[in-house]
Amino acid sequence: MKVPFFNLERQYRALQPELEQRVVETLRGCSFIEGPAVKALEAELAEYLGVRHAVTCGNGTDALKLALRACRVRAGDEVITSPFTFFASAEAIAAVGAVPVFTDIDPVTLNLDPARIEAAVTPRTRAIMPVDIFGVPADMDAINQIANRHHLAVVEDACQAIGAEYRGRKAGALGDVGCFSFYPTKNLAAFGDGGMIATDDDGIATLCRALKAHGNGKTGAKAARLLGLDADDPELTVVGQADGLYDPFKYYNYLVGDNSRLDTLQAEVLRVKLAHLDRFNALRAENARRYQAGLADLPLRLPPLEPDGMKPCWHQYAVMSEDKPGLVAFLGEAGIGTGAFYPVPLHLQKVFQPLGYREGSLPLAEQACRQSVCLPVYPELSQEEQQYVIDAIRRFYRAA
Ligand SMILES: Cc1ncc(COP(=O)(O)O)c(C=O)c1O
Repeated sequence: MKVPFFNLERQYRALQPELEQRVVETLRGCSFIEGPAVKALEAELAEYLGVRHAVTCGNGTDALKLALRACRVRAGDEVITSPFTFFASAEAIAAVGAVPVFTDIDPVTLNLDPARIEAAVTPRTRAIMPVDIFGVPADMDAINQIANRHHLAVVEDACQAIGAEYRGRKAGALGDVGCFSFYPTKNLAAFGDGGMIATDDDGIATLCRALKAHGNGKTGAKAARLLGLDADDPELTVVGQADGLYDPFKYYNYLVGDNSRLDTLQAEVLRVKLAHLDRFNALRAENARRYQAGLADLPLRLPPLEPDGMKPCWHQYAVMSEDKPGLVAFLGEAGIGTGAFYPVPLHLQKVFQPLGYREGSLPLAEQACRQSVCLPVYPELSQEEQQYVIDAIRRFYRAA
């Protein structure tokens, strides 16, 4: 048997008629940018997460950059984040000119350990960026308390965590602003790139809306005023009169922003899938329970099913093995795909060498990188396939 690590086709086939109908309708409607589906998706996602504002954008990396800028993180500021995450978390910090400061993780949740954060706060610290890695929420109550004590913004990287819950609240709605990715392998996945910012803060939402679309028009002016740039009232200062070709609000810019919009097509796809998200996440949770039951007696460290009252959305199911290369090779020979997330902790990435971290600086993140093996956990994994994976792992440990 072959068990792929991930399979995009199965979900597509399951939802094919509805997806294709929406895609064809969108093509016929010829409204490809900021069409009505984008507004509808934003309203649906805001309701799903329980936040006032959902602002869609081009991808999760942009969501992080926009959120950091909206939280006034500027060149030279420091942002504390996790070394055990996808590169984009720290890349976004560096991209806005700030400096990522890495603190070690909790070895159980694999998220930022709140107990280690405060020692890293300096006068230059502006924000904390916890990452809800593998769909497990970070300990946001503790992190928010530290942030409040030091007047820091909290930008939650919830790119892997849509649908996860922390003490009755949704991941991504737990800090000042949460960021999501709709990359095709995510729990809520587009047919291409997509991202979103979620916040209760009207000012952050306005700034993100302005910055994701060239800082123009009335939103751009409002955003510039929020930043203290003293933008004039656009009603008074726009140049020229609107006609069919020229929209003075659209072509009058108040901030240097970006072009990071979600396509109407992707919004339609995401609306179809959002209606199934809780069901898909429940199937992932069942798969996690089956792994737990099938592997509990082996010399592997398994992820806790509900750590400290949290409900992970099981973006990944990562086991910790003292023989990661051996286990990965054995499963590969048995036709089973695995994910090696993450092979290199971010503090040891080449590009961050000038920050001065060394091997041994953050031992728990380094150990997680040496040991973590992600198993197939997607909702469409059949029980027969999962049993095959469990049996293969059991064979490996019997033979080892
Ligand atoms: C934790 C984390 N942060 C940020 C990103 C960046 O998202 P995107 O690939 O949509 O830019 C991803 C996903 O790839 C991610 O997993």
